[in-house]
Amino acid sequence: MRELYAVVHSILLLGASFVLSSPGGSAATLAGVLPDEIDRHYAGGVELGWLERGGGRLELQRTRELLVRFLAPAPARVLDVGGGPGVYAGWLAEQGYEVSLVDAMPLHVEQARELGMFAARGGDARSLDETDESFDAVLLLGLLYHLTERRDRLLALREARRVLCGGGIVAAGAISRFASVIDGLVLSWLGDPRFRAIVEGDLATGQHRNPGDEPGWFTTAFFHHPDELAAEVREAGLELDVLLAVEGIAWLLNDLDERIDDPDRREQLLWAISALEGEPALLGATAHLLAIGRRADAAERR
Ligand SMILES: C[S@@+](CC[C@H](N)C(=O)[O-])C[C@H]1O[C@@H](n2cnc3c(N)ncnc32)[C@H](O)[C@@H]1O
Repeated sequence: MRELYAVVHSILLLGASFVLSSPGGSAATLAGVLPDEIDRHYAGGVELGWLERGGGRLELQRTRELLVRFLAPAPARVLDVGGGPGVYAGWLAEQGYEVSLVDAMPLHVEQARELGMFAARGGDARSLDETDESFDAVLLLGLLYHLTERRDRLLALREARRVLCGGGIVAAGAISRFASVIDGLVLSWLGDPRFRAIVEGDLATGQHRNPGDEPGWFTTAFFHHPDELAAEVREAGLELDVLLAVEGIAWLLNDLDERIDDPDRREQLLWAISALEGEPALLGATAHLLAIGRRADAAERR
């Protein structure tokens, strides 16, 4: 959730219509997939670099740790949907995974392609071009919170399930419903009536809005109650393996970079987070949640 507040972004309005060639040669027109304000948020390039420091660095480290735990060993086929500039896709490709990335933001697809390590194309998570049962894992990391309507999140989860092979997993990330009130408290922002109003909306409905495009207050998103994420994964026809806290309470520490840099303190940090990662009483206190869903039916057919 520091993602929401850690960056000052310049705004670069891109053209209204985007046409990107997919690796297969077909073209995907992405106009209108992302609401304008989400497009403006990412158009400044904020996503690249965010995972390099503080809370973002912890999110990256922990998400990698969890992916290592749940992914089939390389070379397995991984589809990174809403994969952004390819931070996870690039890392997985380095480990020997066969990775494809899909994203609705042309800038991110371009940045992902520049890594030159995997296929990247423009597309909409709610309607994927990929064929049925063609991947061992689908990543939805940071995607679901931009689908603010439940029916759209279910479409994306069902598409992920469709392209999964039997026994394959979906790793679905979300922002906690309570992240903005906690962050507002830590950063002393609750005294600002505009931020307080945003937090009140988040708590009441999960619908996060930043009407003034205030830098650092993120953009249009849905913040999940942990129970909602679990329910959506199940409703999409997946078995819920686990629901875990990515950063747990540790995202509140103000010296994360120092702790991560020191091997002994990093070990203590990561141990404490994993000791509490599945505790239902604490799940809402994390910034990001990660649900692991499994396609069980096809596995039984094998
Ligand atoms: C918070 S970023 C996460 C990027 C990357 N997965 C990560 O965790 O670092 C969310 C990404 O989802 C993409 N996105 C949002 N809605 C989408 C949709 N309907 N279809 C495909 N991508 C979408 C955005 O363009 C953005 O790149």
